[in-house]
Amino acid sequence: MQIRENISLRPYNTFGIDTAARYFTTFQSTSELKELLRTSSQSTSAKMILGGGSNILLTKDFDGFVLKNEIGGIEVVHQDENHIYVRAGAGVNWHLLVQHCVENDYAGMENLSLIPGNVGASPMQNIGAYGVEIKDIFHQLEAFHLYEHTQHTFALEDCAFGYRESVFKRRLKGQFVITAVTYRLNKKPVFHTDYGAIQQELEKMGVQHLSIQAIAQAVINIRSSKLPDPQKIGNAGSFFKNPYVDKALFANLQAAYPAIPAFPYDNEHVKVPAGWLIEQCGWKGFRRGDAGCYEKQALVLVNYGQASGKEIYALSEEILQSVKNKFGIELEREVNVV
Ligand code: FAD
Ligand code: EPU
Repeated sequence: MQIRENISLRPYNTFGIDTAARYFTTFQSTSELKELLRTSSQSTSAKMILGGGSNILLTKDFDGFVLKNEIGGIEVVHQDENHIYVRAGAGVNWHLLVQHCVENDYAGMENLSLIPGNVGASPMQNIGAYGVEIKDIFHQLEAFHLYEHTQHTFALEDCAFGYRESVFKRRLKGQFVITAVTYRLNKKPVFHTDYGAIQQELEKMGVQHLSIQAIAQAVINIRSSKLPDPQKIGNAGSFFKNPYVDKALFANLQAAYPAIPAFPYDNEHVKVPAGWLIEQCGWKGFRRGDAGCYEKQALVLVNYGQASGKEIYALSEEILQSVKNKFGIELEREVNVV
């Protein structure tokens, strides 16, 4: 394993931000990671674990050790009457895993097609799309403690999953490297087609017999039509979370803005699409230098080429303030700011 010094992180983040890492290396197995932490002189530096770099905004150089997780491998580890348990290395590309499962008729991940990034971040972020989240198909994960050098297994109840949340973003932040994840998939599919435009897209595709393959394709079509491809325009998906709004506040907002959309959340709150709030504040399609708010989806901030992380962050701050001033709602960033 080669440890490189003072390298640009530009190729390693989908925003395409050009900041530098003091030290950088990759690892392909837990034993390699263990050895690296035990022997390298850099192991006492601050550490950053990197997957596909599709949910980070780099705002400054990182004066520490970047460890890029490249642990591979996909295997079926167990089966019972109804389920199939698939274990994947944290460095496996998420969409390749989804494709593998969809091709083999392992049901449950199809709604999560085409999400960038790697397996390791999927429980960390509790990634979600089109009515499904990782928590719905999660069985367990394996993780390595960065400082105690011990191996641990986390079951569903240990992960404290929430909307784009887990224990790894909160109480255990920065302590563990997720090395492998096991998903519990269904032999008999349970279709989720109620969310967003899936039904409409399936009709457009002329699908007669519903299948996980058709749902995966519908999701791919919808996503490709409105989300920017990071290979062409730098971005990290939704920049903010969709906020939960108290029902009393929402009633006031509805009186002032009758068209405001909302989705049910719990007895006291509704979920309001942040993209709508941002669009109403006039940001959709806005561009300053190379930092912008995407023209087809206002929740996605973009780097048209040479924007710095600080410029993107400054734009996000202006958007956040304007939404707060107009609607009294404080948005929360979804992207991990480093
Ligand atoms: P990284 O960006 O590399 O890391 C994210 C965070 O997790 C960092 O804090 C990092 O330190 C930590 N981390 C990464 N790997 C590990 C590990 N093995 N162990 C411990 N910590 C780790 N997300 C959704 O939920 N739904 C979507 O629909 C969606 N759509 C997107 C569309 C686009 C175009 C883009 C660019 C992003 C989208 N995202 C979406 C966000 C992103 O794809 C996910 O958050 C993804 O899980 C990030 O994976 P990654 O490997 O790139 O993580
Ligand atoms: N909207 C607008 N203007 C916009 C964008 C959205 O008015 O410019 C409104 C519309 O009312 C639309 C609604 O927002 O119906 C929802 O938009 P969309 O279906 O595009 O989804 P989203 O709420 O913006 C969320 C996730 C996405 C996920 C999709 C599909 C969050 C923060 N984002 O986006 O996840 O792919 O739903 O499930 O929850 C990500 O996390 O990076 C991400 C892309």
